[in-house]
Amino acid sequence: NKIKVFAPATVANVSCGFDILGFALSNPGDEVTLQRIPDGKGNVNISGISGDGGRLPKEVDENTAGVAVKLYLKNTGISDSVEISIAKQMPLGSGMGSSAASAVAAVAACEALFDAGMPLIDQLKIAMEGERKACGTAHADNVAPALYGGFTLIRSYQPLDVVRLPVPEKLYCVLINPDVEVRTQSAREILKQKVSLQDAVIQTGNVAGLISALYSEDYELLSRSLQDVLVEPIRKILIPVYDKMKYTALENGALGYGISGSGPSMFALCEGRESAEKIVKPLNEVLDNVGISGKIYVSQVN
Ligand code: HSE
Repeated sequence: NKIKVFAPATVANVSCGFDILGFALSNPGDEVTLQRIPDGKGNVNISGISGDGGRLPKEVDENTAGVAVKLYLKNTGISDSVEISIAKQMPLGSGMGSSAASAVAAVAACEALFDAGMPLIDQLKIAMEGERKACGTAHADNVAPALYGGFTLIRSYQPLDVVRLPVPEKLYCVLINPDVEVRTQSAREILKQKVSLQDAVIQTGNVAGLISALYSEDYELLSRSLQDVLVEPIRKILIPVYDKMKYTALENGALGYGISGSGPSMFALCEGRESAEKIVKPLNEVLDNVGISGKIYVSQVN
């Protein structure tokens, strides 16, 4: 009657794939524990949240996990009550898919507990509603990889069409989380609503190149494709020392460097664990030099 589910951090956008590409990491992640109370009342309650510094709402309708559990019960017609406890293991507003991880862990825990046989795509739609609560839009590029694992493409939002992509075996990610906060909602508001045809051509070329590289495990093509002419030039101004960090990672052998989701976290993709570990020290030095504290995670893309 009790279950604990882990859902991982995710990197959304992956440079050229704004709102459509994302991948999951092996760590860190959030844990959601659900307790089933078979009282026929259908109440949902959040009994505890740890690791959020007291900042996340405990009201069910305001909390990503709460929203997801409530919707799961509604859509399946289950009348048991559920007690939720959430253990956050990554910072909020970090661009590491924190809200998505909680929403996905919640819906996956519901499915494990009640075994309603809900298809993954329907679980995804529920988790997206949790995401909508957290950031104002129901984008799926964090929730999809958190739920499915690996690399995912949102081919279309209406109707929702998710494509799972292969992950090259030696693909590692260095995730840098500087101690700065950027709210997804604000990071979306500053974007231009129109793009030029020329930029659209560059961006689609890179998306196609990146996807092709995942299939062929062509790390050089992957590296050439990790570019973003639409979003990075605007959003990078929200992140201190972004250009210097990027330059340092690339100089030290990273395949590519970009903003993780809406930032302020940044990611570098590398070929092999050794190559990933090699860039940690120089990146830490750049942060130290400007007096910004932060955390750097090395993790396999999976
Ligand atoms: N695609 C979303 C954005 C991800 O960039 O706004 C948010 O984490």
